Amino acid sequence: METSSFGIAIMAAGKGTRLNSARPKVLHEIGGQALLLHVIAAARSLVPAAQIYCIIGHQAEAVRAAASSTGVHFVLQPEQRGTGHAMQQLRRHFAASGQPAPENLLVLSGDVPLIQPATLQALCSFHLAERAAMTILTAVPPNPTGYGRVLRTADASPEVQAIVEQKALTPAQLSAPEINSGIYCFRTSALFSHLDSLSTNNAHGELYLTDVAALLVAHRERVVALRSSGPVEEVLGANTIEEMMHLDAAMRLATARRLMAQGVTIFRPETSVIDATVQIGPDTILQPFVQLLGNTRIGSNCRIGSYNVLENTQLGDNVLIRPNCVIADAIIGDDAKLGPFSHLRPGSQIGPEAHIGNFVETKNAKVGRGSKANHLAYLGDATLGSNVNIGAGAITCNYDGEKKHPTTIGSGAFIGSNSTLVAPITIGDTAYVAAASCITEEVPAESLALGRSRQVNKPGWVSARKQSTKRCD
Ligand code: UD1
Ligand code: CA
Repeated sequence: METSSFGIAIMAAGKGTRLNSARPKVLHEIGGQALLLHVIAAARSLVPAAQIYCIIGHQAEAVRAAASSTGVHFVLQPEQRGTGHAMQQLRRHFAASGQPAPENLLVLSGDVPLIQPATLQALCSFHLAERAAMTILTAVPPNPTGYGRVLRTADASPEVQAIVEQKALTPAQLSAPEINSGIYCFRTSALFSHLDSLSTNNAHGELYLTDVAALLVAHRERVVALRSSGPVEEVLGANTIEEMMHLDAAMRLATARRLMAQGVTIFRPETSVIDATVQIGPDTILQPFVQLLGNTRIGSNCRIGSYNVLENTQLGDNVLIRPNCVIADAIIGDDAKLGPFSHLRPGSQIGPEAHIGNFVETKNAKVGRGSKANHLAYLGDATLGSNVNIGAGAITCNYDGEKKHPTTIGSGAFIGSNSTLVAPITIGDTAYVAAASCITEEVPAESLALGRSRQVNKPGWVSARKQSTKRCD
């Protein structure tokens, strides 16, 4: 389909009064991403960013900052006097910039975040085929209350008479089932030439973009409606936090369904929180209550236990993550075993077949193939070769209060329980560090290092003490 004649406007200037939130509505997140960024992504799949105009107003600078990397244009609506007023600002932008307005305009709402490119394509095609001045995307949800209603000239006709906002519905119109999604195509010249005829004579005292439909009809322009053929959530708006959470759940369930179709087993998928960006190989199993966020990629045949939170993390194949781990910005090799209760912080690279066990924390740590830290350890700014054994309670002291220092542990080394490795420090290949040692100097390869005071046993000391305390009584 040819969308080159289209520009896209995204209305994102509103406050979101019904949220009772200090954050602007379009920056609230569902599916791990701000509402507005979902809408921009849909728009970007139709036209280049240079043809997208985002209308901002309430907390404009915060909204601009959140979306500036997308490369879209921003048009300021300093006062938010309604969706029709938002379009007046766009018209002013074209007049002031000397940039020609696009022949057709696709108008999106910043708070209708699940809209899909295919539906927008269908709307644009329908608009062109119908040679319409205005084309409205509609739906028939189970409960239309709160939405503007689209009144057609006759039931099966594509032609529209008017859009009537909820508060203006007559008793007979209250049951009208077809809602206005807030997404439209316009022949730009037809839209722009009628914006000055809008009035604020309505329940909110605002300039309603929806009133343009009846104005165009009165001027014998063609106004048509296309009912969306996708799932109804795709065209629902998010005016309250509860509505947003409904859309969030719908979006995550759609992601879980897609993954299940690709061979991933997800027990109780309604409990999983998986961002749409996550990729998972076949035969991987997710237990209930797992969060997989951001740019996380999981190989095949892995098993992810309950209550794991993985963010921007890459897993090879056959990885086992037992329950309750928190893992961010980490890379984990094939056949590794983690958890329960491991904390892998950014920069952790766990090699193939390595084991990281309970209450082990890693940060900026490279753990070589087959190495093990099974209990209660901290590995920060550390590089471990292969087959290293880190005993329970061993820690790298990487921070001197000002700077971080590295620890290097050679392949096959054995670090005894409760050892303290004061960085910068190097432990050679196959070296042994005795339990409870405080190591401050390099340990050469093949050596045993003892860094603790020698044990002294005093035979009979207990009874001797009892005798001496008796004498003092
Ligand atoms: C709007 C429609 C309604 C439709 C519904 C679909 C109007 C008058 N009504 O109602 O028919 O069923 O969307 O979701 O348009 N905005 C601005 N500037 C403003 C006001 C709003 O940019 O001055 C933006 C908002 O940020 C939002 C969008 O426009 O992203 C829609 O505004 P909102 O106030 O949510 O309209 P609804 O009452 O939902
Ligand atoms: Ca809305």
